[in-house]
Amino acid sequence: MTTERTLVLVKPDGVQRGLAGEIITRLERTGLQIIGLKLMQVSEELASQHYGEHRDKPFYPGLVSFITSSPVIALVLEGPSAVSTTRKTMGATNPADSSPGTIRGDFGVDMGRNLIHGSANLEDAAREVSLFFDDSELTDYSRSTQQWIVE
Ligand code: RTP
Ligand code: MG
Repeated sequence: MTTERTLVLVKPDGVQRGLAGEIITRLERTGLQIIGLKLMQVSEELASQHYGEHRDKPFYPGLVSFITSSPVIALVLEGPSAVSTTRKTMGATNPADSSPGTIRGDFGVDMGRNLIHGSANLEDAAREVSLFFDDSELTDYSRSTQQWIVE
């Protein structure tokens, strides 16, 4: 089994609505391990680097102004299939299409206020983790429960 790392952002709507704890709890209880976590204000520059793939899309200006409008909570999660497990826990991009039981399906109704970001694939994850975190901010530690989470 390959250990992966992924970047998660509790977006401004999640923090403002007081849902950060609930969102982090849902991710944490999958068994993935939190190896980095911070509350931060996203700058215009960081937003444009993070969302560069969407630069030419009509929703881009709104996306950048939203993500920079209020603090986010950034996390790095580590574990087997961390990228896809996180995406499944989040639900589909549009909350209207997200299943109940997912973060977006349970707490969202609008595409532009979908509460959480998670890296889409391993390549994006590596790029996004290094955009948001210095190596010195990531902590590798062992958990006594690990043997009950991964065979
Ligand atoms: P994210 O990057 O935020 O984790 O979301 P995602 O992979 O599920 O979706 P992505 O396609 O990367 O889009 C990034 C964010 O842009 C907003 N969006 N709006 N109005 C639209 O058609 C539209 N499409 C995307 C969403 O907030 C999405 O999370
Ligand atoms: Mg994306």
